[in-house]
Amino acid sequence: MKLEIRLEEKNDYRKVEEIIREAFWNLYVPGASEHFILHSLRNSEVAVPELNFIAVKDGEIVGQIFYTKAEIKDKDGKKHEILNFGPLCVTPKYHNLGIGKALIEHSRKVAAEMGYKGIAIYGYPGYYTRVGFQSGAKFGIARADGAFPKALLVMELYPDSLKGISGNLHEFLSDLQFDGEEFLKYESSFPPKEKKYKPSQDLFAEMVNKMEDPENIKIY
Ligand SMILES: CC(C)(COP(=O)(O)OP(=O)(O)OC[C@H]1O[C@@H](n2cnc3c(N)ncnc32)[C@H](O)[C@@H]1OP(=O)(O)O)[C@@H](O)C(=O)NCCC(=O)NCCS
Repeated sequence: MKLEIRLEEKNDYRKVEEIIREAFWNLYVPGASEHFILHSLRNSEVAVPELNFIAVKDGEIVGQIFYTKAEIKDKDGKKHEILNFGPLCVTPKYHNLGIGKALIEHSRKVAAEMGYKGIAIYGYPGYYTRVGFQSGAKFGIARADGAFPKALLVMELYPDSLKGISGNLHEFLSDLQFDGEEFLKYESSFPPKEKKYKPSQDLFAEMVNKMEDPENIKIY
């Protein structure tokens, strides 16, 4: 398989948003909003356009990864800039070919060259531990409330890059308010698509619930 990983260009924007909509549609909730998240944030101050990579197979865009800035606030109140990513997706018919892994590996190398020390995300441990992420607890990196949910995953960008950095994760993404009316207007620019239930929505709800379950998180 010939796969090219390259930076997203303006001409790619719409196609990228279409593949995100397809990949996420009904996956975690009925419908999807991940394409609107990227559409709204691409040119914002929290975006990192140097890491906005797409995967191209035989001339067709088949995957993307979008990074935003985040920080770790340590116990002395000092802030350490790191990265967060999402949405990350691969067109469903090309799943399990290593494209998601290739997007993460390529972007992590560029992020390290740019001087970033780490990436922290919330995601399925089953997938992300396969591509180099470890539990945030291993690094002493907690959620804003001091909890260590299993879904909080962290990757160092070079050996010991996060040594001495621990504290609470703050994703700037979570501060942003989305305009519901703008979303509906934007969504109406795509062909209609049926919103419905899929079992993957239960798995996602289970993961989110686990993040709140005292059995699964430690609070220090
Ligand atoms: C997650 C995603 C990007 C992975 O892309 P991909 O190119 O298919 O992944 P890779 O080829 O690198 O890895 C595939 C392997 O990971 C496994 N995997 C995928 N999702 C997994 C999960 N949630 N838990 C455990 N393993 C998972 C696959 O079973 C496969 O295993 P195998 O190699 O033993 O066959 C893709 O499934 C996707 O677009 N999903 C929908 C959008 C999404 O959920 N994005 C992540 C949240 S932002």
